[in-house]
Order: sequence, then C-alpha cells, then structure tokens
Amino acid sequence: MTTLLRIDASAQLEDRSLTRMLTTLFTTEFLAANPDAKVITRDIGKDPVPAIDHRFIHAAFTPLEAREDWMAERLALSDRLIDEVEAADIIVLGAPMYNYGMPAALKGWIDHIARIGRTFSFDLARGDVPIEPILKGKQLVVLSSRGEFGFEPGGPRAHMNALDPAIAACAHYLGVDAADIETIAIEYQEFKDARHDRSVIAAKEATRDLAVRSEQGAEQNFSVG
Ligand SMILES: Cc1cc2nc3c(=O)[nH]c(=O)nc-3n(C[C@H](O)[C@H](O)[C@H](O)COP(=O)(O)O)c2cc1C
Repeated sequence: MTTLLRIDASAQLEDRSLTRMLTTLFTTEFLAANPDAKVITRDIGKDPVPAIDHRFIHAAFTPLEAREDWMAERLALSDRLIDEVEAADIIVLGAPMYNYGMPAALKGWIDHIARIGRTFSFDLARGDVPIEPILKGKQLVVLSSRGEFGFEPGGPRAHMNALDPAIAACAHYLGVDAADIETIAIEYQEFKDARHDRSVIAAKEATRDLAVRSEQGAEQNFSVG
C-alpha cells in the first residue's frame, strides 16, 4: 500500500491559498488512481511547529541512551514528524514563496526533521562529506505559487529564487534524491491577469497528470519524470 504524506505550509486558509488548491487536487487525483493509498496530513501552515531552541539542540545531540526525560519530551514532536516522513512513499508539499524563500513554517518543519541518528548520520571518517542520509527511496512533489514570475532556471528572477534550491538542498533529510523532486509552480498571482489565469490552468493540468504518474512511479520505485 502506498502512503502519501501531504504537507501544507501556506499561512492562508483554503479559500485564499493556491498551493492548498493544488495539494487538494493532487491528493484527490492520487486517491482516485489509487483508492487503497493511505494519506497522512500535516498542516504546518495552520498549526506551525515551534522553533527549535537550545534545549532542542542539546536533546537532539545527546545520544539516545543518555537522554533525560525532558530531552525525550522536547524531541517528541520531532519524532512524530519524522515517523510521518518515514511512513511516506510520496511527499506532496504545498510550498508558497514568501520573501523569495520558504515560509518560516516550512523551515521550522525541516528543522524538526533534520535529526542526527534519525534522518542523517555524521562521521568525519567520511572526509569532506560527513553527512549521510538515513531515509531513502521517497518521491517529493513540490506544489508552489509565486506572486511574481520568472524564477525557473534561466528566468529573469532565477537569481532571487531561494525557495526551490533550499528545498532541494534539504531533500536528502526526507529520503529524497534530487532526481526524485518534481516541482509545479503557479506564477503571476500578484498580477491577477491573463498570464496568471493561464499559469493556474497549466499548473492544475500538470498536477493532475503528476498525481497519476506518481502512483505509477511509486509502484516502479519512484522514477517519475
Ligand atoms: C508573506 C508573503 C510573502 C510573499 N513573498 C513573495 C515573494 O517574495 N515573491 C513572490 O513572487 N511572491 C511572494 N508572495 C506571493 C505568494 O507567493 C503568492 O501569494 C502565493 O500564491 C502564496 O501561496 P498561497 O496562495 O498558497 O498562500 C508573498 C506572499 C506573502 C503572503
């Protein structure tokens, strides 16, 4: 049975959020193609995780066998969030662009997922690449929206895109290889013109198509695209 983890990071509610519209569409089409799939939802936009602090870091870097009760408590939410990622075959992520990067809620979630001993190991014996991911073989679908346009490679605002590269850099904590990330983005939201209308139509079509291909990809060990 395939498990889909749906993450929504928009601070806007359903009636005003384009990324929520796309994650809903993806999930609906995915379930239609695969009625036996399990869906886990984690709404970090409506219910953001608390920022990590010195107690979190102290607890996370204390070996499991040496942890005091307060440390286990401090890491309990992080453990639950990682359990959800671990259980997933496909992660669909609603990721709006905020101030050219990711919403704080999404960064906060990633800060809870990147955990030594759970999602990565660290060993200087590996030389200049001491970090090794623990999770593997998952597929990531990023459904984004931007007010402006041209953030794609080669586009006029490519150099301002601090969202897609940051997600790609952290994907290994989710068990996702760079080749297994698919991104669909609505643009021109702030212009509210015909270009935006066309962008919404194209993104919806691509999302529907990807929802069906992702299911096939999941069966074939996640090779989509
Ligand atoms: C706080 C905030 C910051 C934003 N910053 C940017 C930005 O830097 N660049 C951009 O192109 N659009 C920006 N936008 C526009 C959003 O990316 C756009 O409204 C998008 O549709 C938001 O996703 P949502 O509809 O799912 O909430 C911003 C919107 C908000 C609310």
